[in-house]
Amino acid sequence: MTRIAVLVSGGGTNLQALIDAQRHAALKQGMLSAVISSSPTAYALERAKKANIPTYVVDRKGYSSNEEMTHELTSLLQELNIGLVVLAGFMYVLTDEIIQAFPNAIINVHPALIPSFCGEGAYGLHVHEKALAYGVKLSGATVHFVNQDCDGGPIILQKAVAVEDNDTPQTLQRRIMEQAEWKLLPKAVSLFCEGRLKVEGRWVKILPGL
Ligand code: GAR
Repeated sequence: MTRIAVLVSGGGTNLQALIDAQRHAALKQGMLSAVISSSPTAYALERAKKANIPTYVVDRKGYSSNEEMTHELTSLLQELNIGLVVLAGFMYVLTDEIIQAFPNAIINVHPALIPSFCGEGAYGLHVHEKALAYGVKLSGATVHFVNQDCDGGPIILQKAVAVEDNDTPQTLQRRIMEQAEWKLLPKAVSLFCEGRLKVEGRWVKILPGL
């Protein structure tokens, strides 16, 4: 079994998708073992408690930099014997220490088709504001490994979602969550935990199941 930690900052609907997947035995060889929030008031913590998953708070406000927070997170994840770290609506950029401690073992869900509308400053609703301002007809979601480049690691899964004429950032966000994020993230987690993701340079090959 791979012990999974989910890092969150807000509402936690992607965490909920993982909890629901686990309930349906869809995470296969993975076990949700910790939810770590960057904020003590994140609703995601309530979702974790309801599902009896141990919760931890590493409050960004208690640290003077992302480096310091990353150091604390890395120690905690190692103490908890975590094999996969999932960033599910985690709103801070993690620094090198965690990437070196968990090489190709951190995955992130991003609410756009990378390399569009990503990088520093592209998180949450801002991503959808940028997509609408640009006038794209398709957006979507990407699940990728985390490396030293913000939103730049090898791509595991992507799904396109149509933009509609009357979309607001909120309606587009919701459609992308429903049609893409909540499906792709549990799928990528289960593939990882089954040992079916093979990283070759920028490519992630999905190995056949048994
Ligand atoms: C999700 O749309 C996620 O893709 C996005 O924030 C939202 C969190 O929602 N993440 C980023 O923008 C990271 N760059 P949730 O808390 O309900 O899962």
